[in-house]
Amino acid sequence: MRIAMIGGGYVGLVSAACFADLGTEVAIVEVDQRRLGMLREGQMPIYEPGLDRLVAEGVAAGRLSFGDDLAAAVAGAEAVFIAVGTPTRRGDGHADVSYVLAAAEQVACSLNNYAVVVTKSTVPVGTGRRIAEVMRRLRPELDVDVASNPEFLREGSAIGDFMRPDRVVIGAESERAREVLGRLYRPLSLIEAPILFTKVETAELIKYAANSFLAMKVTFINEMADLCEKVGADVHDVARGIGMDGRIGRKFLHPGPGFGGSCFPKDTLALMRISQDWGAPSRLVETTVAVNEARKAGMAARIVAACGGSVHGKTVAVLGLTFKPETDDMRDAPSVPIICRLAEEGAAIRAFDPIAMDQARPLLPDGVAYCQDAYDAAEGADALVVVTEWNEFRALSPARVRDAMRGRVVVDLRNVFDPVAMSQAGLAYQGVGRRA
Ligand SMILES: NC(=O)c1ccc[n+]([C@@H]2O[C@H](COP(=O)([O-])OP(=O)(O)OC[C@H]3O[C@@H](n4cnc5c(N)ncnc54)[C@H](O)[C@@H]3O)[C@@H](O)[C@H]2O)c1
Repeated sequence: MRIAMIGGGYVGLVSAACFADLGTEVAIVEVDQRRLGMLREGQMPIYEPGLDRLVAEGVAAGRLSFGDDLAAAVAGAEAVFIAVGTPTRRGDGHADVSYVLAAAEQVACSLNNYAVVVTKSTVPVGTGRRIAEVMRRLRPELDVDVASNPEFLREGSAIGDFMRPDRVVIGAESERAREVLGRLYRPLSLIEAPILFTKVETAELIKYAANSFLAMKVTFINEMADLCEKVGADVHDVARGIGMDGRIGRKFLHPGPGFGGSCFPKDTLALMRISQDWGAPSRLVETTVAVNEARKAGMAARIVAACGGSVHGKTVAVLGLTFKPETDDMRDAPSVPIICRLAEEGAAIRAFDPIAMDQARPLLPDGVAYCQDAYDAAEGADALVVVTEWNEFRALSPARVRDAMRGRVVVDLRNVFDPVAMSQAGLAYQGVGRRA
């Protein structure tokens, strides 16, 4: 079987490499010449654990190829996946589907055989219909089906998520499209990954509903963390106590600085707009968006307060810049507004991230000092702040951190440190939703 993947980013590249690993021939089309050049040279344009090996194996097996010639890639493909970005549209919060529609136009102009055109991008309800219209308008004689196959992988564990998914959702209207996509995913259904066939609109909505529900769960535990701080309870025990209830589940109950990243912020905003447009506003999603925004905005103030009310002339060490560990993705990372605000208030910033310092540099103010490691960042700092929970931060020695620092303030926005060990080392430790 042969397929094409339009877009070789976090989702397109991982999905393509996984499909190739499962035996399908995949041609990736990528317009970003930097990303394409790196792929051609055997380098990874994004950081994702295990991806370099999987891509190299796919290439060596002759099943994975990259290029910018869309017509060549779609020739003979039974399915053409669109995995381009759908960022927030400037000004109104809707998802910007212009890249998806542009890709659909290019596909329409290039196809010469039956194919299922599949959105893997997260797209608003009705986008599948719009793609079908585009195809009909440009090439009325073309024999195509349009389907939706939203992707649920998480950056940092993307390959495992793709290969052992909780479910695969396929929105398709024709038997022929269901057959093609069912056959493509057969290696996963053989290992009992549930395949859920739905209407196209349903599949499109499932993706937004899933992300918004998860974002709501994070926001809920963040609010509980605030309450725990007031009443002297421990949010981790609260999370454990409610998470053991199978109806609630343990996952996504980790308090932090507010959700960020390439998906939750834009997808909650988009679902908010979609439901408003259709006259069925979701108050829960609207509130989730508002509470999260306020939380992210409030994080710098929390650090300033921990520093005694001012960071002017002080040095703050920031550990972790990405929106989560095991990725280099800086999109909507909480570190950016936090560092910008602290710098505005007169703090000198010493930052360290294990992977993403180059990606962070263009987003952060000039003058941020990029450090060799966490201890180097702590050197001479008045306060140390953990923004991303990279595993290597968990193993830091409280005594070495203390000895490197000038001050004693540690603000742990991810609760990676042991509060007791921190206090015993003489550090003024502040976690989220729990007391030392
Ligand atoms: N990143 C994630 O964790 C994740 C998870 C699930 C779903 N999604 C969704 O998947 C979609 C893609 O996200 P991403 O993170 O992979 O984005 P990305 O920006 O990393 O990748 C998109 C790629 O598409 C390329 N592209 C754009 N137009 C093109 C065209 N016409 N032809 C060829 N290439 C083109 C871009 O150059 C870019 O490299 C989004 O809708 C996103 O919401 C992302």
